[in-house]
Amino acid sequence: MRTPIIAGNWKMYKTPREAVSFVEELKKAVADVQGVEILVCPTFLALLPLSVILEGSNIRLGAQNMFWAAEGAYTGEVSAEMLRESGCTYVILGHSERRQYFGETDANVAKKARAALDNGLVPIICVGESIDERKTGRTATVIERQVHGSLAGLAADEVTGLVVAYEPVWAIGTGLTASPGDAQEVNALIRRLIGELYDRGTAASVRIQYGGSVKPGNAAELMSQPDIDGALVGGASLKTADFAGIIKATVETLNPPQ
Ligand code: 13P
Repeated sequence: MRTPIIAGNWKMYKTPREAVSFVEELKKAVADVQGVEILVCPTFLALLPLSVILEGSNIRLGAQNMFWAAEGAYTGEVSAEMLRESGCTYVILGHSERRQYFGETDANVAKKARAALDNGLVPIICVGESIDERKTGRTATVIERQVHGSLAGLAADEVTGLVVAYEPVWAIGTGLTASPGDAQEVNALIRRLIGELYDRGTAASVRIQYGGSVKPGNAAELMSQPDIDGALVGGASLKTADFAGIIKATVETLNPPQ
């Protein structure tokens, strides 16, 4: 049984002060939620203060990126150990915005995933096709390349515990959501690829999120798909009511009222 994970990727929104007041509110709004893992990924600068506020709550903390080296002369970078010490349990790797604006490649993602796992962080590995790739029928090829490249060198018992996020680039921040059927199809493909690379048990355990314009109104239908194990939420994770709405829709989808 895979526990769904609803994660908020705040990107470069919310200052540390804004992040603090947001989680104070969110903590109350989701205090009684069970059966769904809740995660917020703020700016690096808010991690430490948020880790104090979230101690003992049902909200986990994640980072949006990291560097693979343990330490060294890498101006501006942050290591996995630094993230662990700042209260993170998760780290998003290979988000399409990192690939687009910062030259992140599958090989980089694999190195970062190795370092994250070595330091006890759970990687959330993002994959997804562009609109051009979808329109020209290359979705499956692109996803296969990204899955193979990003997981290179990881062992089955490491992949079992990690999270993959399918985020079609054309659905991010655009208001366009993949239809539940299309999202399910790619999530099922990712699970199949992991089954081929590793084994059936690993494929059955790995959690695969969907991301791209997830909102309270479309969350239930997406989350009810058999291979969608949660959401990676951008814009709607910045408002307490919307983020809590997505979390509650997920809980209700799993445990419909009798
Ligand atoms: P939106 O939910 O704003 O489309 O962003 C999705 C995303 O990129 C999450 O990582």
